[in-house]
Amino acid sequence: MDSFGLEAIKAWNAQPRHAYQTISVRPLTCTIGAEIGGVDLSKGVSDEQLAELRVALHENMVLVFRDQHMTEEQHRAFGLKWGKLHCHPVLLAKKVPNPEILEVRNDSTSKVAIGEGWHSDATLEERPPMGSMLYMKEMPETGYGGDTMFANMCLAYETLSPTMQKFIEGLTAVHSGEVLPRLYGFPIPEGGYPETTHPVVVRHPETGRKTLFVSPAFTVRIPELSQAESKTVLDLLFRHVETSPAICMRVSWNQNDMVFWDNRCTQHHAIFDYAPHTRVGVRVTVLGDRPQA
Ligand code: SIN
Repeated sequence: MDSFGLEAIKAWNAQPRHAYQTISVRPLTCTIGAEIGGVDLSKGVSDEQLAELRVALHENMVLVFRDQHMTEEQHRAFGLKWGKLHCHPVLLAKKVPNPEILEVRNDSTSKVAIGEGWHSDATLEERPPMGSMLYMKEMPETGYGGDTMFANMCLAYETLSPTMQKFIEGLTAVHSGEVLPRLYGFPIPEGGYPETTHPVVVRHPETGRKTLFVSPAFTVRIPELSQAESKTVLDLLFRHVETSPAICMRVSWNQNDMVFWDNRCTQHHAIFDYAPHTRVGVRVTVLGDRPQA
């Protein structure tokens, strides 16, 4: 971390933390992630808890709920507390009965794990999800492995030099579905995947904080730049996240853990270190707004 980065981290850590009354919040690192206690998701959450969970999400971006015993219906119900639910285009194309529940399964036949590679979910859509909730149903038979890494994308922006921040702020970027289906071997839905343009730097709609909004899984070009410039700038931004462990954390899962991440200001990367074993999660994803510069 250079001096620009260090100043940004100091400023981040100087922020006051909320004193919670109805839930417990134990930060997992200084910059991202917290474990939440005092909540049983199978019983639902009170309005007071929901309000505090929102504050905790803004402060920590990734909330880890350990040892929850939820049905799919209870999982959906918690998702609906945050907004309408997203249906993955692949599930809509397959016409499955409940396209709001996305199974994240990797097993001995997987060549690439779902979610392997830094991304925020579905940014190829005009209104990408505000958040995703992954519930771990089956751990690899080792009992460990299959962690998920998360990055604080507000700090990804804030740890850049002011000159670089200014340069990228006026730019947009094209988010496309061409990368992942090819990687996973998914069928391309009729009419193809949508391609959408978002600002490179967007404002979080609730905190107002600026966040870097490009990822190697979806972002293919910056139309305001030449092809070579675009590739170089995107590579630089992608490498910035990969080479900044101080803005990242890693969740080690147990069966029945649930992790809720703010998709607007984080990226995540599933780690496929458990082949040939099987790991199965189910994800409920909450719709968001169109990202604004
Ligand atoms: C995802 O990208 O939603 C999957 C994350 C994971 O499996 O850890």
